[in-house]
Amino acid sequence: MAELELFRRYPKTRDLPHVSLANLPTPVESLDRLGEELGIKGLWVKRDDKTATLYGGNKVRKLEFILADAVEQGHKRVWTVGAVGSHHVLATSLYARKLGLEPHALHFPQPLTEHVREVLRALSTTEPQLELIGSKHALPGAMIKSRVKEWLSRAENPYYIPGGGSSPRGVLGYVNGALELARQIDNGDLPLPDAIFVAAGTCGTLSGLALGSRMAELPCPIIGVRVVDKVLANPLVAASLANRAGKILADCGVEVPHIGPTDITIIDNQIGPGYGEATAQGTRALERAQKLGGLELDPTYTAKAFAGLLDFIEQSQKPLTNLLYWHTLSSADLSPLIEEADVMHGLPEAYREFL
Ligand SMILES: Cc1ncc(COP(=O)(O)O)c(C=O)c1O
Repeated sequence: MAELELFRRYPKTRDLPHVSLANLPTPVESLDRLGEELGIKGLWVKRDDKTATLYGGNKVRKLEFILADAVEQGHKRVWTVGAVGSHHVLATSLYARKLGLEPHALHFPQPLTEHVREVLRALSTTEPQLELIGSKHALPGAMIKSRVKEWLSRAENPYYIPGGGSSPRGVLGYVNGALELARQIDNGDLPLPDAIFVAAGTCGTLSGLALGSRMAELPCPIIGVRVVDKVLANPLVAASLANRAGKILADCGVEVPHIGPTDITIIDNQIGPGYGEATAQGTRALERAQKLGGLELDPTYTAKAFAGLLDFIEQSQKPLTNLLYWHTLSSADLSPLIEEADVMHGLPEAYREFL
């Protein structure tokens, strides 16, 4: 497998804890038919849905740095938070088990779709330790309780992973993602895009791309499409995450630019009624991407991100030549996991009514 672009460009970072979980670089592809229909010369997609065959999407790049850090520090357990259909909780649990770590998660409810049920069935195969709280508003209190519990039970030594895997270590995965894209542009695999669109949840993906593209001197804006509440996804949060990741690199001796909130672009017009709630624009984007681009999107994250890109094209005053959509949803086939799932055994009783 090729060396990470981060390590190739900055050999001083080679000592950072890292475990290879993803097939990198992910391909870039042109969506010709859809681009033609939208009247844009080049519509490109960065296929991070194909980061891995066990489970792909944007979590895998983050987990390469996070789980390696947990292992290096000698932890036996990891714990994290997310909605019941969280891709992050699923990916973390799958890859934690692969590395011999025990997965724990604090879950909050979200609208129950078939996709959410599939995620839960696949999750049950990892036999995670789960705690379900009544609503996402109870999350801060429940997290404090868990952190106190964690502190009291230091012998168990759990490693905390923030929601979405958006810790500074996780962000490094997307700094590498941006450097990888810059190399693909240099190699002529795709032209320099006018802009890059990506879903913005906990902002780890966006902030890594923002920092990495500055390091690579890529002049195109990275546009995050907000799909969660504004308190979670905003330029202050993204800039702070980027700079905390930058500090890890600076500690290795790399010269890192400072990212200010004005360096971050987040658009707010696709969230609709809220996190996990489908929107009409998202549904339209999902159908068009599937029919004309052969891309599978989900209503919570990627349909809204793609709808942001479609809206940008429709509203643009000047002709656009090339746009890139960064696809963050796993396209790995979950059916082998779902077939082996034994939800009675793998999930706590409180989850049975969901399935
Ligand atoms: C498919 C998908 N896309 C995008 C995101 C958002 O990424 P981030 O939390 O890094 O902003 C998530 C987060 O869970 C996701 O599952």
